[in-house]
Amino acid sequence: MKQTSILVTGGAGYIGSHVVLQLRERGERVVVLDDLSRGFPQAVLDAPLVTGHVADSATVSALLREYQVDTVMHFAAFTIVPESVRDPLKYYRNNTCATAALLECCLAAGVRYFVLSSTAAVYGIPASGVAAEDTPTAPINPYGTSKLMAEWVLASVAQASALKFATLRYFNVAGSDRAGRIGQATPNATLLVKVACEVAAGKRAELEIFGTDYPTPDGTGVRDYIHVEDLASAHLDALTWLRRGGDSITLNIGYGHGYSVREVLASVERVSGRKVKVRESPRRPGDPPTLIASADRIRSQLQWRPQVDDLDTIVRSAWNWEQRLLREPW
Ligand code: UD1
Repeated sequence: MKQTSILVTGGAGYIGSHVVLQLRERGERVVVLDDLSRGFPQAVLDAPLVTGHVADSATVSALLREYQVDTVMHFAAFTIVPESVRDPLKYYRNNTCATAALLECCLAAGVRYFVLSSTAAVYGIPASGVAAEDTPTAPINPYGTSKLMAEWVLASVAQASALKFATLRYFNVAGSDRAGRIGQATPNATLLVKVACEVAAGKRAELEIFGTDYPTPDGTGVRDYIHVEDLASAHLDALTWLRRGGDSITLNIGYGHGYSVREVLASVERVSGRKVKVRESPRRPGDPPTLIASADRIRSQLQWRPQVDDLDTIVRSAWNWEQRLLREPW
């Protein structure tokens, strides 16, 4: 009998590719499905890559059968908030409907475990700035809503079947593989650490600080920045939990403390030795002043132990990767 495999959708993207790397280092058999609309084939290194869309049920069903897939880790999604506001149907189609189509194939193929990439955007703007898993969900943009609906579809399907799931709500993912093999290569990136490193590297002229009048210690937005390798290891821990018979779970992934935009920029300047030119701009619509994870549940339930909870280390990995991209663009 062939060994079972893990299907990683969106495995050629920023987060998915870091998970693929760790799964393979642990000796798991992996197959990646990615339509390469936002991912890079080189990000999977030498893992098997099938180019296609998760909503293409014929391709997905054939893949599930051929590779004897018993676990699906689902990363394929669009993640740009302003884009979701301009074109909501694109997000509902790609993030919600495609997840439902994927689940239909999973049920038909007898997949046992499903790990869903979700987001802190499902919480909207929690009053205290800290979100626990039982904080009421109240997304304020179509991106967050599209992911929350995907969570609901998954939970209902699991309720009605033997499928077990882990839904992981990410806070602010940053940095790259510290060994420098892969990293975030998204064109027109919007994430703060990436944009700041691009400015330091001379790829962009300046960084806009969106809002300097927030009720935070230095007036700029505060977020829970988590290194992509720690985020990736949480997926492996979630899989171990499910394989050991744990119940379906929904977990925040963050460190439980935050940094302001100015603190992040100071770190980028320290690490790169370069000045990051900034322009102070008005608040970006829909940005909460502070968003920090209450992250006790993942530590206690999964025994998740982050290794890179240090801002300068996170930024250094992003900066090293940015310099590599300058030498060898993806
Ligand atoms: C990110 C995630 C979102 C998640 C949230 C959790 C993506 C695309 N977004 O959004 O899904 O719900 O984390 O906290 O993955 N900033 C600037 N200038 C810039 C860019 C950002 O000042 O050029 C500021 C923002 O106003 C914010 C902070 O930096 O205060 C972080 O912004 P960003 O990196 O865009 O992430 P989020 O909007 O928090």
